Amino acid sequence: IRVAVVFGGRSSEHAISCLTAGSVMAAIDQDRYEVIPIGIARDGRWVLASGQRLAIEDGRLPEVADDGLPLALPFDPESRGLVVVEPGQVPRTLGDVDVVLPLLHGPYGEDGTIQGLLELAGVRYVGAGVLASAASMDKAYMKLVWQGCGLPVGPYVVVRDRQWRRERKQVVDEIKELGWPVFVKPARAGSSMGISKVESEDALEAAVEAAREHDPKVIVEAAIEGREIECGVLEGLNDDPAEASMPAEVRVGSGHDYYDFEAKYLDDGLALDIPPKLPAAVIEEVRRLSVRAFDALGCEGLARVDFFYTPDGRLILNEINTMPGCTPASAFPKMWAATGLDYPALVDRWIRTALA
Ligand code: DAL
Ligand code: MG
Repeated sequence: IRVAVVFGGRSSEHAISCLTAGSVMAAIDQDRYEVIPIGIARDGRWVLASGQRLAIEDGRLPEVADDGLPLALPFDPESRGLVVVEPGQVPRTLGDVDVVLPLLHGPYGEDGTIQGLLELAGVRYVGAGVLASAASMDKAYMKLVWQGCGLPVGPYVVVRDRQWRRERKQVVDEIKELGWPVFVKPARAGSSMGISKVESEDALEAAVEAAREHDPKVIVEAAIEGREIECGVLEGLNDDPAEASMPAEVRVGSGHDYYDFEAKYLDDGLALDIPPKLPAAVIEEVRRLSVRAFDALGCEGLARVDFFYTPDGRLILNEINTMPGCTPASAFPKMWAATGLDYPALVDRWIRTALA
């Protein structure tokens, strides 16, 4: 079975995607699957990317070097093969691909765009489809869907581009009603990029501007006091319902006010408790709500659902990631290992559900 592993991409999570791809390619069962590594450079060019550095070295994050064999964007719908386009040469195909593993995080990858491209080309792929990817990438629609399904989300305000430019006073008044502190986030981004915690009105404008550098649509959320709990979900095999993993509690180390980018990937500012030190009934509720959150958005394949567990015992949904980080520091593969599915079996499961 030929698997095209696609990584890198145009989003600000480019490097994280490379780390995810490095881990997944190291884990995939090479006897069963023939891997074709495809990098998308930061400028959007596709290349055959063998032998690239996909790990952190000396504190340096990896990235796709676009010196590989250039690929056309990206599939020949007739042969479903990858097409190589070398300057001055007639394009040629590299043969069929059975399934694509789009290990991309953030916009142009986790948001339905590449999924649409693969749908058009008639190529199978791992993970959520177009609508589920797009709705799950956009924190405003994600919450709207969950609210509509009666799932618990915290208070928030959406700040659209025009509102911010033309109706700022009303927007700020609305945000003030959330109380302080708030978290200001780009609606469509990941890995804590562009996020700030804001303690008072004075710092609000700068925080919204910082988020707007990632996305003109911004979401402002009331800060929820609570422990951070994550849970993996996998699509069921043979028409079985989706399944949730053993959850994890994420504990942010000293020096990090919240679970920011540095804590996630660069420091050892992160500890995972798997299983979390929570009553069994709460763990069960996390798993049940995770599957409901996955189904509400129509997800497929895999996702990670993130919660807050408040001191008064409530579980509140924070977000879902349809292509969760699978870097060496990431919770997703570890949670599944603790549930009895080791890394090669996890990747195998993704591919089997995609091909089913
Ligand atoms: N967006 C990052 C990769 C995550 O949620 O794991
Ligand atoms: Mg995210």
